[in-house]
Amino acid sequence: MNSTNEQRLVALGQQVTPAWLEDQIHSAILKIEKNMLRFGEQFPSACATDGVYRLKPNDDWTNGFWTGMLWLAYEWTGDSKFRQLAKTNLDSFQDRLDRHFVLDHHDIGFLYSLSAVAGHQLTREEAYRKQVLQAADVLMARFQTRGNFIQAWGKMGDAKEYRLIIDSLINLPLLFRASQLSGDSRYREVAQKHYQTLLHTVIKPDATTYHTYYFDPQTGEPSHGATHQGNSDNSIWARGQSWGVLGIPLNQHYLDTPYPVIYPQLVTVFLDHLPADLIPYWDFDFTDEKPSEKDSSALAIAACGLLEAAKQKAYPEAKQLAKGMIYQLGTLYTTQDLQNEGVLLHGVYAHSEGKGIDEPNLWGDYFYLEALMRLQNPDWKNYW
Ligand code: GLY
Repeated sequence: MNSTNEQRLVALGQQVTPAWLEDQIHSAILKIEKNMLRFGEQFPSACATDGVYRLKPNDDWTNGFWTGMLWLAYEWTGDSKFRQLAKTNLDSFQDRLDRHFVLDHHDIGFLYSLSAVAGHQLTREEAYRKQVLQAADVLMARFQTRGNFIQAWGKMGDAKEYRLIIDSLINLPLLFRASQLSGDSRYREVAQKHYQTLLHTVIKPDATTYHTYYFDPQTGEPSHGATHQGNSDNSIWARGQSWGVLGIPLNQHYLDTPYPVIYPQLVTVFLDHLPADLIPYWDFDFTDEKPSEKDSSALAIAACGLLEAAKQKAYPEAKQLAKGMIYQLGTLYTTQDLQNEGVLLHGVYAHSEGKGIDEPNLWGDYFYLEALMRLQNPDWKNYW
């Protein structure tokens, strides 16, 4: 352990007791209970406005997070009302697949790991196994053999969109699961190819990360990094770095290939850029001397990453560091005020687009609760 931030996080982590975790989980579940009465069979928007989610159909990359929270609440409480609504949502996810509705992007894992994979894991229903495979086929169709990567967005082959993004690390576990559930190794092979391409492009030699990386559509040669939601092409977007902290262990879980040697350095970059309250600014261009809004969701994601990394012994004191992060989020960035529908306050969605600035967002809510689950029950089997 080398930095002051690490020492402070480890010290804060000592405040996390089973009773504290229980309390945090209880408060989060009260919110889910209240929110589900209003949300019904609709879905909450990606981010809140003044702490309230807009209701909409199942048409965004974020719809899995709400369903994932329902599965977590069901696992924690055993109350069938959470399972019932999650299952109703899965009907909507099936309909979305059947109509191929807003699925021309790579975020199929965010959508279907937290809905269908979780549903199958918890109920063993055959329909959900099929849903996992149908979703994995949609993701497979975005694989580009020229460059060996899954194209993030847009029309396939379009030169302006011939790129991958670091967030896609979280979409790959769906493919590993699909191979396990079908016995078909093609899913796993594509996941491995994309993973290797991503490691060798978006992660720079100093372990900072690009958000996205372009390839030449004619030759497939790696071309250049660029941002989509960061402050600039060369800045470190906090959530991008945290997708790396989480995504590498999630993928290594399925692999017997050597751990990327750069992983500890990638984690250290994240930790070293935390400001005084240890909650990251949305981009590491910003500091306490030159502040902007915080992105609490990046810290919740990093905490889940460190808890997965701890199982793989991939970073010293990973579990204690994650505990410190969750303690800081729980004490400073949550509220018991049920009028605010967010479990985790003060995130940033897309700053340059003015979206979800200083507001709760669904992935912050989800990963905060996932981290609590991981801490309270180390045997918990995740949905990725
Ligand atoms: N995956 C998109 C985001 O993190 O905002």
